This record gives sequence, C-alpha cells and structure tokens, in this order.
Amino acid sequence: MENDRQDKAQAFYDDYWPKNVPDYKKTREHVFEIVPTRKYKKAFDGGCGTGVNSLALAEIAENVVAFDLSSASLKTAADLAAKLELKNIKFVQGSLLSIPQEDSSFDLVYSWGVIHHTVDPVKSFHELVRILEPGGCLVLAVYLQTRLTFIHEITRKICLKMPRLIKSSFIKSLAVFIRSIEKVKKLNVVRDDNPYIESKIEDWFFVPEKHYFTIDAMEKLYGGNGLTFELLCEKTGRFKSTSNFIVRGIKNTN
Ligand SMILES: C[S@@+](CC[C@H](N)C(=O)[O-])C[C@H]1O[C@@H](n2cnc3c(N)ncnc32)[C@H](O)[C@@H]1O
Repeated sequence: MENDRQDKAQAFYDDYWPKNVPDYKKTREHVFEIVPTRKYKKAFDGGCGTGVNSLALAEIAENVVAFDLSSASLKTAADLAAKLELKNIKFVQGSLLSIPQEDSSFDLVYSWGVIHHTVDPVKSFHELVRILEPGGCLVLAVYLQTRLTFIHEITRKICLKMPRLIKSSFIKSLAVFIRSIEKVKKLNVVRDDNPYIESKIEDWFFVPEKHYFTIDAMEKLYGGNGLTFELLCEKTGRFKSTSNFIVRGIKNTN
C-alpha cells in the first residue's frame, strides 16, 4: 500500500520535473538567503528534483549528494550540473523513508518542499535527522497548514479521480480563468519558479501525496529530535509563495 502510493508519487515527478525546470539564478539567491553561509564538508539535498538547489549547495559544500525518488528528475539535474561543469555533486536515487547513507554523515541537510510529498513525512524527517552530524544544520521548507487547507484538499482529492482527458481540459480552463482574473484586476503576478499557470495547477491539485504542518508541530519535531528551532519565513516560501514556511536548526552535540 505504502509502496503503491510511493510509486504514484514517483510517476508524477518523472513526468513533471523534466518539463518544469525552475529558474536556477533565483533559486541560488534563495538558497544563500536561507542556508547559514560557511563552508560545508558534505551537503545532502533530500528530494532534489531538477537539482537547482543542489547546484547552489555545490558552491558552499565540498561535496553534495543530490537525492530523489524520481530518476527522470535526477537525469534532468545531472544534465544541468554537467552544463555548469560542476563535478562535486553525486546523484543518488532512493526514498527519504529509508535513506541509504550512514548516520551523522552530513554537516548540512537541506530539503526544500519534499517531506510533505512523501508517504510518511515524520519518518522522512527522522531519516534526515539521522544522517545529520551533531553540530550540523537542517534546513526544511514545508507546506503550511491553514484553516483553508481542507478546501484545497477536497479539490485535490476530486482532481486525483479525474480521467486523463478531463484533467487536461480542467487544467486548461482553470488556467484561462486565472489569467483573465489577473488581467482584469491588473495583477502583476510573478511566477519566477514556474511561469506556466498550467504547471502550477498540476502541482497544486494533481500531486499524489500532499501533507501539511503547523509551525508548532514543526517546532516540536525539531525540539523533540534534539535540534534548535528557527523559523525563517512564515508564509513566505520560495518566491513569495503563501503556502510554505521555512525552518532551520542545529543538531545538539551532546
Ligand atoms: C516539490 S518537489 C521539490 C524539488 C526540489 N527540492 C526543488 O525545490 O525544486 C518534490 C520532490 O520530492 C521528491 N520526492 C517525493 N517523494 C520522495 C521520497 N519519498 N524520497 C525522495 N524524494 C521524494 C519528488 O520526486 C520531487 O522531486
């Protein structure tokens, strides 16, 4: 059952990422805003997707492991790294639910927008903490649970049951609707991470696994697992998204 769900998540990203590579330069700026700047020995990018974060991490870490469930995403990431001639990134396929890395083997563990897409986000969190060395830093971005989350979730559950043909018409119609609202209201919405509304809609409503955290719950997870807790951005994730929050903490040394 868990494997089945994970296979669906993998299939979604195998299809999604190769056609939706985020803006690398914007991501790079963002990474340097949220990761404490120092030189790292070994960084882990858990759920690297197209690898845009890993490329930035490769500038501040001697070695980077870019890790993802989706092989097609990893291939996109490896092609990007080759283009930039970055040689200190190793691409590894696997699941955050059971990371094939030694305990305490990274001094930076970074995972942007990933654990909430895994079948068991808390188990993924524990795995990320396990591979982090004492004194090392864990940076996470996760979906924020709000009072309106249930409406989003009802819509997503309906969308996930749509036949393929209806899915593409639904996405097109909703995109037309959003574009016209933005035009009428003269909203200048910047979508740096992905300019296509269609891709956004796919990501909002058709992603197979989606979980949410409150800031309190995340603070308890950090504290309960021996990490300090620092809330970096509340309701302002990458590129001013209202749906994420970003946290970081240092693993206790005793
Ligand atoms: C929203 S994307 C984020 C990608 C990247 N971190 C970024 O910021 O561009 C979520 C990623 O998590 C990966 N993923 C989902 N479940 C996973 C799992 N169990 N283990 C590892 N990666 C997983 C997906 O393949 C996808 O690339």
